[in-house]
Amino acid sequence: MRAEAYLRDRSRGSDDAPLLQLVWPPRAWTGDIAPIEPPRPTRFEIPTGVLLEHTIAEVRAQQIVDDTRFDAIYPARIRELSSRYWTPVSVARRAAELLVRFGGTRVLDVGSGAGKFCLVGALTSPGAFVGVEQRAHLVEMAQGIADRYAVANASYVHGDLTTVDWDAFDAFYFFNPFAENHFSRLERIDSTVTLTPARCEEDLAITFDGLARARLGTRVVTYHGLRGDLPESYERYSCESCGTDMLELWVKVRA
Ligand SMILES: C[S@@+](CC[C@H](N)C(=O)[O-])C[C@H]1O[C@@H](n2cnc3c(N)ncnc32)[C@H](O)[C@@H]1O
Repeated sequence: MRAEAYLRDRSRGSDDAPLLQLVWPPRAWTGDIAPIEPPRPTRFEIPTGVLLEHTIAEVRAQQIVDDTRFDAIYPARIRELSSRYWTPVSVARRAAELLVRFGGTRVLDVGSGAGKFCLVGALTSPGAFVGVEQRAHLVEMAQGIADRYAVANASYVHGDLTTVDWDAFDAFYFFNPFAENHFSRLERIDSTVTLTPARCEEDLAITFDGLARARLGTRVVTYHGLRGDLPESYERYSCESCGTDMLELWVKVRA
C-alpha cells in the first residue's frame, strides 16, 4: 500500500495500518530527495489589509517609510530576501529622482526581482517603470501587487535581457543583477534558473552592447555597481553614498 493510500484510509478513520507505511517507500528509493538549496516557489499569496494600503499611500505622499514596514506588502519568503536582494525604499526613491527627468520618462529595471524598485519609483515620481525579470513567479507577484494598489506606471515583463527592446527606454536601473551567478546555491534567491559565471559574462556583454547603442542623453543608475565602468560614451555624473553602497549616475554624452 502506498503512503497516499494510507493517509486516505486514515482520513476515513481507519487507524489500523502500521506506522511504517507513513514513510514507505522511503524517499531515497523514489529519487525524491530534498536538495540542499533554496525552496522552489510555486504561487505566492499576497498579503492584504488596510495598514498596507496606508503604507503605500505614505510612500506616494513622499513620507519616510522604513523597509520593514514597506516589505509587509510582500509574502514572507520575499520579505526574507529583501535586505540582500531588493532595493531599499530610500534608495529606490533617490534612484528614481536621478533617472526621471520629465513626466513619462521610460525607465527599465534590468532584473526587477520582486518589483520593489519599479513600485517605489512609480509611486514617488512621474516616470513609467518597466521591470524585466527572468523568474516568472516574481513577475506574476510584482504585477499582482502593482495592480492591487493601482500603480499604473509600474509593469513587469517575464524574460531575459533580450526580451525587451532597449531602444524603447530613456533610462536604466541596475541593482547588480548578475552577481547572483557567482553565489553559492544556498545564497541564491531560489533554484528556478540556471546561474553560472559564464552567464554573468554573457549578460554583461549584452548589457554593455545595449547601453553603447542607446541614444544620447540616456541615463543609467547603478546600485552596488555593475562590475566596472560603463561604455566610454558614458560619463559618471554623480556618485553618492546611499543605502548599503553607492548610487552612481551615468549619462551617455558621446555617440
Ligand atoms: C539584486 S535583484 C534586484 C531586484 C530589483 N531590481 C530591485 O532592485 O529590487 C536582481 C534580479 O535580477 C534578476 N536577473 C538577473 N539576471 C537576469 C537576466 N539575465 N534577465 C532577467 N532577470 C535577471 C534576478 O532574477 C533578480 O531577481
